[in-house]
Amino acid sequence: MESTGAKAPAGHGLAGSSDSRIGPGTAPEPSQPRTYHQPGVLRVLQSREEVKHFYDKIAKAYDLLAEHSEGPVRQAGLEMLNARPGEHVLEIGFGTGHCLSELARSVGPSGKVLGIDLSEKMGEVSAERLRRENLEDRVELACGDALHLPYVSQTLDVVFMSFTLELFDTPEIPLVLDECRRVLKTAGRIVVIGMSRAQPDSLMTEVFEWTHRHFPNYLDCRPILVRQALEDAGFQIGDAKTMKMWIQVEIVCGMKPSKNG
Ligand SMILES: C[S@@+](CC[C@H](N)C(=O)[O-])C[C@H]1O[C@@H](n2cnc3c(N)ncnc32)[C@H](O)[C@@H]1O
Repeated sequence: MESTGAKAPAGHGLAGSSDSRIGPGTAPEPSQPRTYHQPGVLRVLQSREEVKHFYDKIAKAYDLLAEHSEGPVRQAGLEMLNARPGEHVLEIGFGTGHCLSELARSVGPSGKVLGIDLSEKMGEVSAERLRRENLEDRVELACGDALHLPYVSQTLDVVFMSFTLELFDTPEIPLVLDECRRVLKTAGRIVVIGMSRAQPDSLMTEVFEWTHRHFPNYLDCRPILVRQALEDAGFQIGDAKTMKMWIQVEIVCGMKPSKNG
């Protein structure tokens, strides 16, 4: 696990700072793999190496390919998240860093934004954006796999994930969300934006799934059931909406309940 940004302040959420259960620079073992199934949702067959290689390759062109369609949806997700001054926020799969800089502005100088992404090249593009916008002091970037978050349990107010959960194979989805729950404080919020299979009959969903099946190297993700995934992971759903990109997208906000909640 590499850190590509400035060091987090002492006592912050990076593993090794204050929680003796997690050693420096290491992440906890994920929970035991379990069987998880979402009806109709396709599996993801690509290895981590293939995914990393793909995003490294397209990092510099990603905005050209995706910004026009994904930008407005991400904005709606950030509005639902409503990050506040002083909060500590984690973005998983930050890509070219548009949301990192928005989040850094929202949390202000007293807050902190952490970001983790599998792709080193995405990290470089994001770091450059943060430098340009003079926000690098508020953001700590790490290169790694979201299945093993290198952050201390129960230290974060907010987790944000946009167009990333659908890259994980179905049995991995609850493992990633377990990690999100672990790092969130009680009553912490999570917002997930993801391509949705809630309306499986749409033509675009069918075309997308056909392409994913036949050309998995070009289309590594597929529509999933976002709200269902968050509910199954034990989050209390607060707000949820669907938006139309060229495919249906779900934006869902969940809250980590107290142990008794
Ligand atoms: C489709 S892009 C979305 C980027 C950004 N969130 C956005 O909305 O523009 C998915 C991002 O997730 C990252 N990613 C893929 N698998 C990951 C993993 N296992 N752990 C962390 N990041 C991952 C990719 O490198 C890529 O930057």
